[in-house]
Amino acid sequence: MKVFDGKVVVVTGGGSGIGQACAQAFSDLGATVVALDLKFGGKQELSVEHRLTLDLTDESRVNAAFEAILSEYKKIDVLVNSCGIIHRATVIDTSLSDWNKVIAANLTSCFLTSRAALPSMVENGAGAIINISSGWGIAGGDRASAYCASKGGVVLLTKAMAVDYGKANIRINCVCPGDTDTPLLAQEASLVGSSIDRFRAAGASRPLGRIGKPDEVAQVVVFLASESSSFITGAVMPVDGGASAGTG
Ligand SMILES: NC(=O)c1ccc[n+]([C@@H]2O[C@H](COP(=O)([O-])OP(=O)(O)OC[C@H]3O[C@@H](n4cnc5c(N)ncnc54)[C@H](O)[C@@H]3O)[C@@H](O)[C@H]2O)c1
Repeated sequence: MKVFDGKVVVVTGGGSGIGQACAQAFSDLGATVVALDLKFGGKQELSVEHRLTLDLTDESRVNAAFEAILSEYKKIDVLVNSCGIIHRATVIDTSLSDWNKVIAANLTSCFLTSRAALPSMVENGAGAIINISSGWGIAGGDRASAYCASKGGVVLLTKAMAVDYGKANIRINCVCPGDTDTPLLAQEASLVGSSIDRFRAAGASRPLGRIGKPDEVAQVVVFLASESSSFITGAVMPVDGGASAGTG
């Protein structure tokens, strides 16, 4: 008997990085996992059987996907929102179109999927939502206005939903990763004229002396979805090797 046997877990951004690691971790623990993403790579290490390809910023596609999931599996026990994109620019250098894209992918997607999943969780009398924000959802970062605004929004969307749905026995928390070794981090490095190797090396300045691995974030997400965290809701948990604690 595995801990998540019989549970239905939906993971957005499940085709890559942290979302893929979450999907894998829940699948390893016996859950039926449905991964949602814009795309799934050819070399798919994910052993999750159920994948839906969609743009998570598209309201009607999101609603249709959740209707299909609920029609097939009858319930959603856990929703993990890991869908996201990176954008590095100051306010002056951010076009309205880029601003809207970042807010849509990082924040509106969480709103749309939560709104689609919550009614069935309320009906079941139980559920857990874990949103992936960022260290830059708590503190500002350079040349990242739209990204920070979107991730700060995820933090307070998490808290607001935790307040609204606690009495319905739905726990809603968020995880704030520091630099984690994923395709997004490599993309970010190139956006600022650096490289993933330099980003990895910069991890040496953090208390634990390195950047994170996707599975190290996934394990915290699993904890927040499990009964072990039964009295935790509205929490904002850094998973950053101590980066937010300070530097020595
Ligand atoms: N990697 C890091 O260092 C880091 C640090 C802090 C926070 N985060 C956050 O963690 C989450 C996961 O990031 P990651 O590093 O695994 O990135 P990733 O690029 O490996 O994975 C993100 C996934 O989201 C999907 N996605 C983006 N926009 C989408 C859309 N509109 N519809 C459907 N799917 C969409 C992408 O296709 C991709 O598969 C993101 O929200 C990111 O902001 C990452």
